[in-house]
Amino acid sequence: MPESKIENPKSKIPSPAATGTSFITSALASPVSPVEAALRPLSFSDFAGQPKTVERLKVMVGASKRRGEALNHILLSGPPGLGKTTLAFILGHELGRTVRVTSGPVIEKAGDLAGLLTNMEEGDILFIDEIHRIPKTVEEYLYSAMEDFRLDIMIDQGPNARSVRLSIPKFTLIGATTRSGLLTAPLRSRFTLNTRLDYYDRATLEGIVLRSCGLLKVEIDDGGAKEIASRARGTPRIANNLVNFVRDYASEKADGKITKPVAAAALELLEIDAAGLDEMDKRVLRLMAEHYQGGPVGLGTIAIAVGEEAETLEEVHEPFLIQEGYLARTAQGRILTAKGYHAIGLKAATGDQQSLL
Ligand SMILES: Nc1ncnc2c1ncn2[C@@H]1O[C@H](COP(=O)(O)OP(=O)(O)OP(=O)(O)O)[C@@H](O)[C@H]1O
Ligand SMILES: [Mg+2]
Repeated sequence: MPESKIENPKSKIPSPAATGTSFITSALASPVSPVEAALRPLSFSDFAGQPKTVERLKVMVGASKRRGEALNHILLSGPPGLGKTTLAFILGHELGRTVRVTSGPVIEKAGDLAGLLTNMEEGDILFIDEIHRIPKTVEEYLYSAMEDFRLDIMIDQGPNARSVRLSIPKFTLIGATTRSGLLTAPLRSRFTLNTRLDYYDRATLEGIVLRSCGLLKVEIDDGGAKEIASRARGTPRIANNLVNFVRDYASEKADGKITKPVAAAALELLEIDAAGLDEMDKRVLRLMAEHYQGGPVGLGTIAIAVGEEAETLEEVHEPFLIQEGYLARTAQGRILTAKGYHAIGLKAATGDQQSLL
């Protein structure tokens, strides 16, 4: 079996919006730290949480190994930083297969796809990140590639134009998306498994924080781990970014050890509050309370008013705010809940009246 090789032709650096690290990038400069790769779990045994998804994947890996066939196509969806890319690499590792990485917007034409697929070996994995952003014209070629392992490509133009059929090795497509709703039904239905990652609970994140500190050889106590985990918005990538910042803070302002007060002071400096809400979250909540009487207000309006892209708000900020009950989404627009008012120190409006707590 070929050794698992991880290729990362990320000529494009993921935008902070795409990585869910926007709130922290201003403080930490780089959207994806090099340490992120070092902290990435390489096998199922290192991967904490997501029990349902992990079990489904283990079943598929086991069956594929037993039959000696390529793994069936898998779609991983969920908010940024929850482990989609990590799982794709784990699948490659567990199967001992090469993982080729690309991203929806990078595949501009059918020829790009043909180039990628014809260079694969049977059983290899093609990981397409942000698969919802694949151009529609290319998407149609993917259908036959996924189903029949062939591509019908037009070459030449005008009177010389002709269609050429390429057969491609039986490969596995792993798609990742933060917006599974944007995927067309025909594409979605071609994945055998469509599994969604959820935000992590505090206990699991605490374990991830402790593991990362172990790998980084940073001393941390339970109180410190709890503090970081509770402010990480249910997201391992954010937990790891916080660990890195708190580690720096501990070595600059304390004796290097991460304790509860050290972690709390460091996170205060990043303006992340006890519930994990960052500055942008609070700006959204405040805007809704102060200018729109708690809503309903449209996402586009909120985006312009807070100076953030609507897409970023919808992919990065909103899922957490909705899941935690700060915001509700209705057909008329977004509505601020009582918890949302509370988070910014206001009481829910009765009529148009708000009062300071
Ligand atoms: N279950 C987990 N256990 C431990 N660490 C994790 C886990 N899931 C993710 N991580 C850590 O979080 C980081 C981010 O995960 P990953 O890059 O896989 O997220 P993603 O879902 O692909 O995000 P995006 O949508 O932005 O591409 C990884 O580098 C890894 O270190
Ligand atoms: Mg990813």
